[in-house]
Formats: sequence, structure tokens, C-alpha cells
Amino acid sequence: MITFNLVGVSKIYSLDGVEVRALDDVSLKINQGDFASIIGPSGSGKSTLMHLLGLLDKPTRGKIYLEGKEVPFKDDAALASLRNEKIGFVFQAFNLLSKTSALANVELPLIYAGASARERHRRAKEALIEVGLGHRFEHFPNQLSGGEKQRVAIARALINDPSIILADEPTGNLDSRSGKEILEIFKDLHKRGHTIVLVTHDLDIAKLAKKIIKVKDGKVTA
Ligand SMILES: Nc1ncnc2c1ncn2[C@@H]1O[C@H](COP(=O)(O)OP(=O)(O)OP(=O)(O)O)[C@@H](O)[C@H]1O
Ligand SMILES: [Mg+2]
Repeated sequence: MITFNLVGVSKIYSLDGVEVRALDDVSLKINQGDFASIIGPSGSGKSTLMHLLGLLDKPTRGKIYLEGKEVPFKDDAALASLRNEKIGFVFQAFNLLSKTSALANVELPLIYAGASARERHRRAKEALIEVGLGHRFEHFPNQLSGGEKQRVAIARALINDPSIILADEPTGNLDSRSGKEILEIFKDLHKRGHTIVLVTHDLDIAKLAKKIIKVKDGKVTA
């Protein structure tokens, strides 16, 4: 099955009347079970592409098919439920809520999904244990190391058991040892059948992936 099929996708930002063509007529496919990495210089459009794959932003032109169905970018409710059901997103800057515990951060997507409090606690604890944070349920983000914060973010991304995991430079803010540990988690998730798309500046990391997508000046070059 083809997980993502992009056909002639462009994203143009307008700022004070100046147009920035962040993505320019991109067509690409990512198959189910792929481990794909996206590489390219700063400003080339990698995060823009990830936001479109994650249904966090809409293309200016072109179509995106998710598992064979055209993504309904005009229907915000349908988009939100597709995102919640199928996609887990991990960001470079972790994007955790600072005033809530690790456990509460991981539970958040389950609140949107309508799970009971009991069910939320149980599943969030399981997810944290799975990423090696069984001893940090009540810690707040500022009481966690960078690598631990990213583990919380991964647990949150996994909580609805999404088939697709998107990660935008997940090791960018980590030292090399924590970075390696986080990558091991992604490798393991890939082995368990998840489709992974990972943005990286690091060629060694990119080489772990089975498929490398090169982005330059808003175009996919290889
Ligand atoms: N919200 C926005 N409004 C206007 N321009 C934007 C916006 N977001 C991104 N851009 C521009 O689009 C281009 C692509 O940005 P993008 O964030 O996708 O790059 P990137 O490849 O992720 O870079 P980096 O490696 O530095 O994260 C850049 O020129 C950027 O300035
Ligand atoms: Mg970026």
C-alpha cells in the first residue's frame, strides 16, 4: 500500500506581499512500512513538507493521497480525526506542555480521542514504560533531560498507535548519545511495522533509512 502519494504539491507563503515558494511542484510516494529520511540544506523546505505530510498545514497547489484517499484539506474536522488516528508527530523542540507532568503530556491526545481518565492513565503509563521512562511519570518537562523530553514526546506520538510516525530532526537538540538512543526507538518502531519519515541533517542517520528524499530549493531532487 502507498501511505503518502504527493502529486504536484506546492506550498507558497505570502509575507508582506512577497511570495516564498517553500515547496515547488513536489511529487513523491512513501510506501507503507518505509523508513524514509528527508535531507537538505536549511530553508530547503523539509519542515514545510513534514507539516503537509502531518496534515498540520495545507498545500497551496496539488494533491496528497493518504492510504489511497485524497486528503480533505477543506474539512478541518475530518483532517483532525485523520491526524489523530493515523499520524504521530515528533518535533525537534519536543513541544511538550511545560506545566503538566510527563504522564499528562502523553495523555493529551487521548483526551481529544475521548478516552476515560482510567483508560488514559493506563495507556500513558504503558507508553512511558515502553520508551524507558517508567520512573518519570510525575516529572515536569523542566525536570527532564533533553533525551527524556524527546522520549515523552515519542510516547505522546505513539499513544493512539498511529501507523505513521513523522519526526522533524528529533535528535537535533540532543547530545550524540541521547540521539543514538532515540534513533534506536525509531528503528524498533520501524521493525514493528510503523511507517517512519524522519528529517535529519546527519548523513549517517539518513543512511539508516531505506529511502532518502533529498530536498533543495523547494524541489525534491532525488
Ligand atoms: N510560516 C512561514 N511564512 C513564511 N515563510 C515561511 C514560513 N515557514 C517557512 N517559510 C520559508 O519557507 C522556506 C522553507 O522553510 P522550512 O522551514 O521548510 O525549511 P527547512 O528545510 O525545514 O529548514 P531547516 O533545516 O532550517 O529547519 C524557508 O525559506 C522559510 O523561510
Ligand atoms: Mg526545518
